[in-house]
Amino acid sequence: MTPLIAEPSSSIDLFDDTVLDDPYPLYEVLRGMGPAVWLNRHDMWFIGGYEDVKTALHAAATFSSENGIALTDAANRQFLNGTVLVAHGMRHVQLRRPLSRQLAPRAMKSLVPEIGSRAARLAVEYITKGAFDAVELVTEFVAGQVVHLMGLPESTRPKLVAQGAAVFDMFGPGNARHRAAAPLATAMMTFLSTEVSRTSVRPGSWMADLYQAADDGDIAEDDVVPLMSAYTTAGMDTTIHGITAALHHLAHHHRYYKKLRTGRLKAAAVFQEAIRLDAPIQGFGRRARRDTRVGNARIRAGEQVWLSYGSSGRDPRRWGHYADTFRPGRTGADLHLALGYGPHACAGGHLAVAQATGLLDALAHHGTRLEPAGIPVRARNNILHGWATLPLTITPDRRRVRHARKPTATQA
Ligand code: HEM
Repeated sequence: MTPLIAEPSSSIDLFDDTVLDDPYPLYEVLRGMGPAVWLNRHDMWFIGGYEDVKTALHAAATFSSENGIALTDAANRQFLNGTVLVAHGMRHVQLRRPLSRQLAPRAMKSLVPEIGSRAARLAVEYITKGAFDAVELVTEFVAGQVVHLMGLPESTRPKLVAQGAAVFDMFGPGNARHRAAAPLATAMMTFLSTEVSRTSVRPGSWMADLYQAADDGDIAEDDVVPLMSAYTTAGMDTTIHGITAALHHLAHHHRYYKKLRTGRLKAAAVFQEAIRLDAPIQGFGRRARRDTRVGNARIRAGEQVWLSYGSSGRDPRRWGHYADTFRPGRTGADLHLALGYGPHACAGGHLAVAQATGLLDALAHHGTRLEPAGIPVRARNNILHGWATLPLTITPDRRRVRHARKPTATQA
């Protein structure tokens, strides 16, 4: 289907390597063309203005997630069918309930001491290495903890991180990246459905809790694997990219690192600003359920729409003249859409913020200066935006590092 001539359209490839590496100039052009731009190559509408993305996310009955998140029918069927992401109405409430319980602010509060001690241990270990790869540090920290909370063995961590990213690749168009990711992404679903069981997960863990919810009749047995996939897909690469983006920006803005270190800036504000500027999930699709209008564009029932969280975070009509600038602590920074909005807003945002706060604070506490130590390399993914490697160096605060390394009475 093609729109009327008067409606803005473009033949750009939104998922080309050069666009994935730096999508922001293109987003600016597309936003300038109108609230909704038809992308011929992908057969979909692009929506990238802050208010337009927010309105569409809220209007779930018009812009539905069902058969709409991914850009291919096969991926919608294989990876999203039965998940909380595409559920609506009472079924959404039912599937979201166990996740909300596990990820509620109160549950996260009780994790803070554990997050803090893991963060301090890893911060000291990496800072004293000299130059280190921040992606390695953040992956060990974030994924190590999520795998533990899920109740899976630590040995599954590397493969789950890679498989989670592959599932995100599958949500894009049927390009080479999508095809290359298929075996890894499929392996994740096979792992969850064949190797994870009531007896293999740690008692008291998130996964054990999901089996319990099935035993109690709160969810169906068939809901367990799709719910698990929400954690393995949504809960690791996203936070990893968010925290590494924050470290990248801090390394280029020493005054903010200094403010963080001296308590004049909150780590949560640094993280929120980093994900506003570089949304770890750049966009998700929706399917129009009825004819509707966005600006001049007439969107017909059945058409695919792409909601760009990444573009909405750079919209100067919302973020002002300095939309492209890292300014942690700016007013309303946490009103960004990087964690979604409306009925499907992120269920794990509190965990992401708790992890980011724990690690950023631990690094700032144990190091006096954070600097780039080489050229970072982008992790190319159809959906995710972040770094594959990010070389950094942090000058140790010798007194605090020495103190952290002192054996406690029980260790001595
Ligand atoms: C910086 C880190 C994170 C980012 C940027 C992020 C981003 C998002 C976004 C944009 C959505 C909305 C999807 C939509 O509109 O269709 C979402 C939903 C979701 N996220 Fe996150 N997320 C993060 C961390 C996490 C974590 C740590 C978890 C769990 C451990 C998690 C679990 C979920 C789940 C279950 C949903 C689906 C909610 C629903 O459909 O009702 N996320 N996330």
